[in-house]
Amino acid sequence: MPKCCVIEGDGIGHEVIPAALAVLQRVIPGLEVVPAEAGWDCFQRRGVSVPQDTLAAIRECKAALFGAVSSPSYKVAGYRSAIISMRQALDSYSNIRPVQSMPGLSPRPDVNLIVVRENTEGLYAGRERQEGETAIAERVITHSAARRIGLRALQLARSAGRKGHLTIVHKANVLPVTDGLFRSSILEVLKENNAEPGGLKVDELLVDNAAYQMISAPDQFDVLVTSNLFGDILSDEAAYWCGGMGMAPSLNWGEEAAVAEPVHGSAPDIAGKGIANPLAAILSAALLARYAWGLEEAARRIEQAVKTALIHDLQIENNRLGKNNTTNSITQAVLTYLN
Ligand code: NAI
Ligand code: MG
Repeated sequence: MPKCCVIEGDGIGHEVIPAALAVLQRVIPGLEVVPAEAGWDCFQRRGVSVPQDTLAAIRECKAALFGAVSSPSYKVAGYRSAIISMRQALDSYSNIRPVQSMPGLSPRPDVNLIVVRENTEGLYAGRERQEGETAIAERVITHSAARRIGLRALQLARSAGRKGHLTIVHKANVLPVTDGLFRSSILEVLKENNAEPGGLKVDELLVDNAAYQMISAPDQFDVLVTSNLFGDILSDEAAYWCGGMGMAPSLNWGEEAAVAEPVHGSAPDIAGKGIANPLAAILSAALLARYAWGLEEAARRIEQAVKTALIHDLQIENNRLGKNNTTNSITQAVLTYLN
């Protein structure tokens, strides 16, 4: 039986995670749940944003459902962003961000893609310094990290339900050393694994062109693999097609654990009001079923229930969920289709 560590975090994490958990428990009866804590509230009580016992619980379960955490916009001694600490501690090297058209919400019906983002280095390596009047950020690309993100993307492009099309996104024309290495390392690992004779179509795009094509022709994409910052930006751009951030799921996936989290934050402006959209969290739970536990059927049932609820039950105005929907009413509508 799969085990799931559950971390609500802060703000609307306390509302959307119980909703997603109810859905997971409906499709996987007997799912073992291990609660744990992380975030700003946890830091204020315990002096650490991700306690060791939380990391131990995630490692024990090998899977976690994570809500959102708040980070202050000013420097606080001893505080580190919980999600970044967790990604580093667990070496969650791939960030999987699927974007699927959603009925009533998506401006077009034919988008079904995954942005596979390298999650440990690039401009997020944190190597910034100032030399006089010049500020410098080092963009770190390693052969080993590029190879493993390439392998992850290959695994996804070959998985059930995908079109078998892999696009490498980079800027090797301007950054021939760093992105040259990113590109050649991925091509190398694809070749070793017989990607193209194996029925896969592999191509590449410069990131500026990819950003344009993400708007002009998003239906051409299947799996895109790219470095950390490019993946951050392209995946938020792509999320427009699934109906916005309240609908965008993600999975931080390394060898030790898979941590699913909605892309949105803790939304302090609406926290505690019972109106947060739980669908990004529910769709994130589906990613745990699919990728952490190999329960493809359970994942599809959840995604289909979300779509059916959008078609039949949820109030939609101008391609957005209307104000009459509550966290509870949306969750109940999804659960109706999972009996
Ligand atoms: P946010 O995503 O929390 O909110 C942006 C806007 O979208 C707000 O108006 C909010 O009400 C709305 N929103 C977000 N999720 C929603 C949902 N499920 N249903 C309905 N409306 C939703 O981003 P913001 O305001 O930039 O950050 C707020 C806090 O969240 C900050 O402390 C920030 O550090 C943290 N944050 C945490 C993330 C994480 O845990 N991975 C990611 C982004 C922000
Ligand atoms: Mg982002």
